[in-house]
Amino acid sequence: MAQQKQLSPSMFIGVEGPEIISFGSGQPDLPPPKQVYEILPDYTSFKYGLIQGQVNLRQALARQYPASSPENFVITNGASEALDLSLRTISDVGGKKVLLGRPYYYSYPHMVRFAGMEPVYTDLVEGRIDFDDLDRKIRGCRAVIINSPSNPTGRVEDVKTLKKIEKLCADLNIYILSDEVYKDLMYVRENYLLSGPHVITINSFSKTFAMCGFRVGYLWSLDQDFVDKVIAMKTHTSMNTNILGQEMAFEATKVPKRFVQDQLKIWEQRRDMIYEGLVGLGLELWKPEGAFYVLPKIPEPKRFVLDMFKKHKVITYIGDWFGAPKRVRFSYALDSERIELGLKRVRKYIDSR
Ligand SMILES: Cc1ncc(COP(=O)(O)O)c(C=O)c1O
Repeated sequence: MAQQKQLSPSMFIGVEGPEIISFGSGQPDLPPPKQVYEILPDYTSFKYGLIQGQVNLRQALARQYPASSPENFVITNGASEALDLSLRTISDVGGKKVLLGRPYYYSYPHMVRFAGMEPVYTDLVEGRIDFDDLDRKIRGCRAVIINSPSNPTGRVEDVKTLKKIEKLCADLNIYILSDEVYKDLMYVRENYLLSGPHVITINSFSKTFAMCGFRVGYLWSLDQDFVDKVIAMKTHTSMNTNILGQEMAFEATKVPKRFVQDQLKIWEQRRDMIYEGLVGLGLELWKPEGAFYVLPKIPEPKRFVLDMFKKHKVITYIGDWFGAPKRVRFSYALDSERIELGLKRVRKYIDSR
């Protein structure tokens, strides 16, 4: 029992081995576009870069976002730093609560607390936001974090709900932090870009272009005062984002759309495989509409995660970390043979119970 209490992500992050099947990792196993590493042999710049981010990358991003200029972007160390800087920047004014949909990406509550604020929750229904509940809980909050498609639910919010949230937050003067790191990995529709006076859009090259380790993300906001405050904070914390990573990200902005579309087909096949496989094992789960996670209900989830790891060499993440205590998260960022093998081991476990 004591052992079960110690279950933490650090037990699994980076754990590898020929026998191990990891449904744990939240990083794509598919390759990045070759254009991003083709620049490596000729790369020579090692100086500090602009705090706000390299101009060529911000110019390229400005072409992707409506009515924007390079000034509206800050290039960050992944979406993680964009979230952290945004939360700390808005924490000095107004309410001290930040609303999160639950289940949530496991770093959100920590980041909110590190920024000196308090996370409060609206429980998702069938993995999606219940607008009426959000409407009740959001009063007095400084911000709400929206994550569609979601890690860990894999669900995509209805556009109607997103529009209602936009209006509500504009009326109540509440920030929306829209974490769109999976916006290109969506199976059901095009991304809906949230907009409004206090919308901060957060994105990353980690997932779309499989560049997690290069740590390049960004935030986009038309609120220039907010952007300036973020730059001031970054000046005295991490300074510029890795400039080689930014050059690689710049190359990624030039890659034809077909690269992402082709990879999306692979993600979708894997989604079908794991979804049907787990349904076939009698498990209850939401069908993912984006990202690369499933979150089935599992009896005795802690025991499942530990036994699967120790006895069957399969890594899964306990739902507790994501605010989903009755569930277990599986990432399907691994090839179809390994997904199949992993599902066989899960069947063996279930049959042995
Ligand atoms: C929802 C969500 N937001 C942010 C991040 C962090 O991304 P990055 O690698 O860009 O920091 C992740 C990574 O798993 C994520 O799932």
